[in-house]
Amino acid sequence: MEEKEIQIHPFVDKRIEDYCQTFHSKQETILNELERTTHLKFLRPNMISSSWQGELLKILTQLVNPKRVLEIGTFSGYSTMCFCLSSQSDCIIDTIEAVEDYKSFLENLFLENNFAQKVNLHFGQAIDVIPRLNNSYDMIFIDADKANYPNYYSLVADKINKGGLLVADNILWYGKVAISDAKDKETLAIRKFNQMITEDNRFENVILPIRDGLMIARRV
Ligand SMILES: C[S@@+](CC[C@H](N)C(=O)[O-])C[C@H]1O[C@@H](n2cnc3c(N)ncnc32)[C@H](O)[C@@H]1O
Repeated sequence: MEEKEIQIHPFVDKRIEDYCQTFHSKQETILNELERTTHLKFLRPNMISSSWQGELLKILTQLVNPKRVLEIGTFSGYSTMCFCLSSQSDCIIDTIEAVEDYKSFLENLFLENNFAQKVNLHFGQAIDVIPRLNNSYDMIFIDADKANYPNYYSLVADKINKGGLLVADNILWYGKVAISDAKDKETLAIRKFNQMITEDNRFENVILPIRDGLMIARRV
């Protein structure tokens, strides 16, 4: 590996990525519309999970069949919608977002799609909000500020039910985790997170190099 390179991204040949993005199930019209609206109305629209990762989140949700989901990092509600669409009607999704300006957009989104009963929107710093949620979860999705990933892990690991799933996005951080020269605070935090989870014998875990890398961990 070229240690001087700043990043290794995409991790697989672009032609393979394009092929993978083509051959997954067709996503629901509402998700297509939400992707389009996100690109029109939101700053940094590339933060959205989008269809390749979204289809995986939906399949994982169907397999786990959660009663309760915790999401850290709502943004435009795309991954929240994936949880809504693929879970039973009595599943509750707690989702945490720091930017209160998204509130009316998100409230409308869930109301218009008849998911208002399923989704609890929590605004604030996740580090403050998580300790106030006195629930256990069958599925947790970490997708917010990378420098806090070790803190999020410490706060949520005990909240996952046995057999439940922890999924974390961006855990390859454009490949920088694997380049020893990279020492920015996000890279250091994500390396620590990946190590914490791998050394924790309460979890079985694996990394998938989809988009910016997903950690999938099952509480045993
Ligand atoms: C990558 S986006 C989430 C994308 C969304 N999960 C999806 O799949 O489309 C990250 C979100 O986390 C939010 N965020 C960043 N730091 C946060 C914090 N400390 N607490 C709560 N939310 C935070 C950002 O405002 C942003 O909306």
